[in-house]
Amino acid sequence: MNNSLVDQVVIVTGAAGGIGSAIARTFHRLSARMLLADYDEDGVSKLASSLDPTGERVIPVAYDASKPSDADTVVSTCIARFGHIDHVVPAAAIFEDQPFASMTDAQWRRTMSINLDGVFYICRRAIPHIRPGGTIVTIASSAAHEGCSPEHVHYGASKGGVLAFTKSLARELSPNIRVNTVSPGTIDTPMVTELLRQKGDKFLSITPAGRFGTGEEVGDAVAFLCSNASSYIMGQTIHVNGGSYMGG
Ligand SMILES: NC(=O)c1ccc[n+]([C@@H]2O[C@H](COP(=O)([O-])OP(=O)(O)OC[C@H]3O[C@@H](n4cnc5c(N)ncnc54)[C@H](O)[C@@H]3O)[C@@H](O)[C@H]2O)c1
Repeated sequence: MNNSLVDQVVIVTGAAGGIGSAIARTFHRLSARMLLADYDEDGVSKLASSLDPTGERVIPVAYDASKPSDADTVVSTCIARFGHIDHVVPAAAIFEDQPFASMTDAQWRRTMSINLDGVFYICRRAIPHIRPGGTIVTIASSAAHEGCSPEHVHYGASKGGVLAFTKSLARELSPNIRVNTVSPGTIDTPMVTELLRQKGDKFLSITPAGRFGTGEEVGDAVAFLCSNASSYIMGQTIHVNGGSYMGG
């Protein structure tokens, strides 16, 4: 990786989560400046001050991905502090158990509003402020490629939407803004703690790496896609899954 991320301005949503916080630590190590947004106001504030006690290079914002007005606040706060945007990484998402036969319209809508609408809201508002050479890196999932585990149809559909959103947007914004996605497999974060407790052995048996992934391993792929080292990569997916799904 070269030095192309030094002082670059990055928005990370879902930044208090297992993967989002690892992405934030990776960008901090690479000397980027960041706005970290999350529904977990306390968590994201603690993360920001642990990375940058001065508050000059890393700022936290309380944010609900399902609210368009919160996306406005994130973008206007970022512009007020840093003047522009270089990279957007919308990682906020939920993963709720719900058998499809009893899934309500409200449960379906809640997942779609955070996992898919939220990606639209933040990207739509950020794009006019992204400098040429900037990037958007969405976070899809293996679920977008091979379907999700039972009781997660809404999650699988939302991530399939994120994947198609990414490729479509890449065609529209290239070459000024490159748009790509990272599709994680099973990454050991709070999102899947319960799933792994119940079905961890099964998931492990189909993972050639013989272990689950870390947020840092996702963060490295995201940083690569934001850097000049990936300058000819557009509308693509990097699978970070230990070989559990070998996508083309
Ligand atoms: N962990 C995995 O195995 C895995 C696999 C594939 C994809 N992913 C994706 O990676 C991304 C990060 O997941 P993670 O594993 O870190 O999960 P996580 O649960 O640890 O983190 C998710 C974060 O999103 C935040 N969030 C939830 N609802 C929100 C809302 N309405 N507005 C703003 N923030 C909200 C949470 O507060 C949390 O900090 C997600 O997009 C997820 O779908 C994770």
